[in-house]
Amino acid sequence: MAVLTAPQTLADRVRELKRLRNAVILAHNYQIPEIQDVADYVGDSLGLAYKARESEADVILFCGVHFMAETAKIVNPTKTVLMPDLEAGCSLADSCNANDLARWKAAHPDVVIVAYINCTAAVKALADIICTSGNAVKVVQSIPADRKILFVPDQNLGQWVMNQTGREMILWPGVCSTHVLFTHKAIFQLKQLHPNARIVAHPECLPAVRMLADEVCSTEKMVQYCRTNSAREFIIVTETGMLHRLRKECPDKVFIPGPTDTCACNECSFMKKNTLEKCVAALENLAPQVDVPEDIRRRALVPIERMLALGR
Ligand code: 13P
Repeated sequence: MAVLTAPQTLADRVRELKRLRNAVILAHNYQIPEIQDVADYVGDSLGLAYKARESEADVILFCGVHFMAETAKIVNPTKTVLMPDLEAGCSLADSCNANDLARWKAAHPDVVIVAYINCTAAVKALADIICTSGNAVKVVQSIPADRKILFVPDQNLGQWVMNQTGREMILWPGVCSTHVLFTHKAIFQLKQLHPNARIVAHPECLPAVRMLADEVCSTEKMVQYCRTNSAREFIIVTETGMLHRLRKECPDKVFIPGPTDTCACNECSFMKKNTLEKCVAALENLAPQVDVPEDIRRRALVPIERMLALGR
């Protein structure tokens, strides 16, 4: 008698291909729940950079946006780095063009350039040190007090770091097109409905939104904060994928997505380009691959390594 077996799901197929390819799946906290659930590691940009560097797999399937996969290739160039969808870009990375930055640098050769990891490899290659939202304060504090600093490309994160460190910086006029959609009015109104909720916001939010927050931090630090805080309810002011991770990590707590003026939650369309179907295709075809020209890769590695050497 034939034994009936359950049909293979897309998630099963991803797991099977992962074994066949000796691949590791790294996923950002904003990825769709189905991808987070098949990933080997889910985290913020800093954690993902460390994981990518230490990976011994032959293939890294990077489920995030392009600059994150590029960083994985820069720190681990002998690995095949795949993305489910190469079109998963980043508005912040788009807001700083390497040629413009090279011109600025030539005119201001004494200024230290701190680049938020949300930028292209070509921009990283021009920077003195990279930072993420998880370590930006520490990175800026590591720079001698007498040096002038240019912070690229996120002016909101840069401004928050200036407030935290008391350090003046020149700010590149870039923003995250998703985070700037959160407004003071929308978050304030939601707080009236949930007076006991703690507000947790990403530093890419506008100052008027950050001022309402009980905690401003990277996506990974949001997990630590919500886990250890005594409150039961949290309003999460960042991309909505974060809520899946938080609900998994803290099943006894209530997480409410931060709204915009027009929507009850806020999605990054780039992060949402990745699907399980595309993960299967990427592992089957070993494409699309992320590559970085070797001269840019070598130059971009230096400021990334400086950041990683500072520790978490
Ligand atoms: P982190 O996950 O490193 O906090 O940054 C996420 C991000 O890129 C926000 O746009």
